[in-house]
Amino acid sequence: MSVSDSNPPLSSPPTALQRPARTLVAAVHAAAGAARPLEAPAYDRALARLGALRASAPALPLLSSGHGEGARVVLADGRRVLDLVAGLGPYVFGHHDEDLLETAAIAASSDVAFQSHVLPGPEYTRLVERLVDLAGPRLEHAWLSMSGSMANENALKMLFQRAAPADRVIAFSRAFHGRTLAMAELTDRPEYRDGIPTRDFVDRVPFFDPDDPDSTQKSVDALEALIDRHPGRHAAMCFELIQGEGGFHDAPRAFFVALMETCRRAGIRIWIDEIQTFARTRELFAFRTLALDDFVDIVTVGKILHGSATLFTKDLAPRPKLVAGTWAGSTVGMALGGRILERLVGEGYAGPGGRIDRLAGWLDEAFARLAAAMPGVVTARSGSGAMQAFVPWRGDAATTQEIVEVAAEEGVLVQTAGGNPTKIRMLPPLNVTREELEDGFAALERALARVARRHDLPVFDAADSC
Ligand SMILES: Cc1ncc(COP(=O)(O)O)c(C=O)c1O
Repeated sequence: MSVSDSNPPLSSPPTALQRPARTLVAAVHAAAGAARPLEAPAYDRALARLGALRASAPALPLLSSGHGEGARVVLADGRRVLDLVAGLGPYVFGHHDEDLLETAAIAASSDVAFQSHVLPGPEYTRLVERLVDLAGPRLEHAWLSMSGSMANENALKMLFQRAAPADRVIAFSRAFHGRTLAMAELTDRPEYRDGIPTRDFVDRVPFFDPDDPDSTQKSVDALEALIDRHPGRHAAMCFELIQGEGGFHDAPRAFFVALMETCRRAGIRIWIDEIQTFARTRELFAFRTLALDDFVDIVTVGKILHGSATLFTKDLAPRPKLVAGTWAGSTVGMALGGRILERLVGEGYAGPGGRIDRLAGWLDEAFARLAAAMPGVVTARSGSGAMQAFVPWRGDAATTQEIVEVAAEEGVLVQTAGGNPTKIRMLPPLNVTREELEDGFAALERALARVARRHDLPVFDAADSC
């Protein structure tokens, strides 16, 4: 029996390997004892030291103790805060998930800690099998890698190779696809490529604007104009079905269908970046939630996978040597990725009425209560399922950042997204409880009230609010 075979669904009785692994994890935790919290000056020194070593301070003044429970994480100074952003997505089952820790302990006892592409172990094969099973009939292949950016780099290379001599790619305005040289160029944020040479290979189409009834037609017109301007030169169009870093913008199916049909007619392949959306909408893949299966040529996933992968059709299979690398991932990361996929299916996260759907409903209710308690503060909402955002007041960047910082002081971690307006986004652990979510929103409300008082920001009568 392979190591990963030893990890059946939770309903099965524990196997011989699971029992000692769980006991080991508990024993190590007990032996380590509760982390001794740092006093405030020591915490500040540790933060400053890390910032100096990295030559960049952490985005928020946060250092984890390494401990937590559910959606709550214990900071190095002993504060317990609710993590409603899950490390920007990856902590899909929160902190101290016993089953994942056990999975990690079993994988860590393997005789190699990392797996090379030239000597794949059982966790590698299992992960690839599960990904391909879940992705539907068109995406027959998967190549593992270690970051979302690298999965996208591999996708881009496969697309260029098959479409040669095409040398251009289409992406949306406000897109985010990572930070390698090529991805920094595909990303629509000039400051992310500040000072680096560019190749000018990306053309942009405006993303959906819910306030403009002609938005879809305008984007199709822009796409057609690009195709006319550079005939035969576009290898692919890259789609983020809900724009993540760009501000949690979503769009209806008809918008994507109109663009994808235009691409199809012009022989342009369709690449979907699901690094942030995977396991955040009703189906595990957002392209399946939107029923876009027939259009998809290549899809990238990362974050919750504890690694990353490029899934592709037979027709995009790269010729030898194009896509390779030493490491495919850590044995622990692969085992976790496989186990997470298994639990997402086995524990009913996907599908109508599934746990992601239920969480989306809780978020709707929590936002409605927040809007009722502080009318005029939540001026717009966007996103879908378990990735949602709102605009506080006018979404001014400095105020939104301040809210996020004050929210951390009040005991809830959220993050900013986009610019103009800058939103507050949430990517909660998918198994967050209703009580944890409500505690998080209560802390957020306290933070908004503090910032409103500090800057004399309006909290309208209910009748005036939008
Ligand atoms: C849509 C999207 N693509 C690509 C990436 C890059 O992934 P990574 O940070 O793992 O390189 C991200 C990361 O946030 C993302 O949200």
